Amino acid sequence: MNWEQTYQTEMPPKTSWSYFNKAFHEWFVKDVPKEMTESKQAFLKAVTSFKPSAIKEALGDIMKIQLWNYAHRIQDGIWDPRGKRALFEGLDLKKPRILFLGAAEGYEAMQLAAMYPGAEIVMVDYDEYCKTTRFTEFPESYPFLGHNPSTGAPKIYYKEDFSVDYTVEDIRNLDFGKEFDIVLSVGMLEHFPDEFKGEVVDWHRKFLKPDGYVVMTTPRSQLRSKLYYQVMADVMNHTYRELMTVEQMWLFTCMRMVFIFSVTVTSKCIMESLLSPDNPLKNRTPLLFMSEGFCFIFLKQLKT
Ligand SMILES: C[S@@+](CC[C@H](N)C(=O)[O-])C[C@H]1O[C@@H](n2cnc3c(N)ncnc32)[C@H](O)[C@@H]1O
Repeated sequence: MNWEQTYQTEMPPKTSWSYFNKAFHEWFVKDVPKEMTESKQAFLKAVTSFKPSAIKEALGDIMKIQLWNYAHRIQDGIWDPRGKRALFEGLDLKKPRILFLGAAEGYEAMQLAAMYPGAEIVMVDYDEYCKTTRFTEFPESYPFLGHNPSTGAPKIYYKEDFSVDYTVEDIRNLDFGKEFDIVLSVGMLEHFPDEFKGEVVDWHRKFLKPDGYVVMTTPRSQLRSKLYYQVMADVMNHTYRELMTVEQMWLFTCMRMVFIFSVTVTSKCIMESLLSPDNPLKNRTPLLFMSEGFCFIFLKQLKT
């Protein structure tokens, strides 16, 4: 359907997010091995029909399911639990209050809560479907690796172990104070043209305790990501999106900050030393990271 033609107006961002969230969730709940078999059978059938349009469509479907299988199931590049654990480690936090802006299914806040037990999570998304379906249907059995605060030993947590309050609201209407230890967004900044990026960063800072962390991630500008968004266009591309480099994230998020350190996941020791209690820069340290598919930034609020 061409929405613009039907309604004779530009699609509002909230509507385009609702299309995105539905399409994305439909792919998440697919029985991928079954769909792979079916797409191959459909392709063979199309070939024997000698209809070029049917063959092209069936080939496109095969490519999409193969790519999804690779990105999501083989690489685990969408939830990316190992990468995210490596990046979230080492923050100076106990029982944090976490605000997740544009939370969708809420994955990253739950991963943080497993690593910083006793966390209180507030998820915010203006698409009600995210609360009623993406979050509600998030598998109860999905294991989040964190640690047991009384023993320090590794511990597996599940969705039901977390304290979550899910608010369906526009971020711009929130009336929280500066009450959160972490304000987080995943895949938000890159959906805004440059003239609005400063405002998006300010949404995060607005609700942060003086000592809190802003954690933001965007997909990385790299050939593989471009290919992914091109092949998966009808699932992923309902809204404006640009792929960003760490340098661009720096430009738009750290303009107001003082220091910048760019490291990779493997340079984790640098992060640890920067965040250690002995580091005199600790309270004013923005950190940028790259994992396989994402750029991450940690901003520690300036104490002014
Ligand atoms: C790209 S998604 C975040 C990526 C997410 N981790 C996922 O897996 O889909 C961005 C989310 O932010 C929400 N969102 C965008 N603008 C918003 C706003 N102004 N207020 C509340 N939620 C918003 C959208 O509904 C969407 O669910």
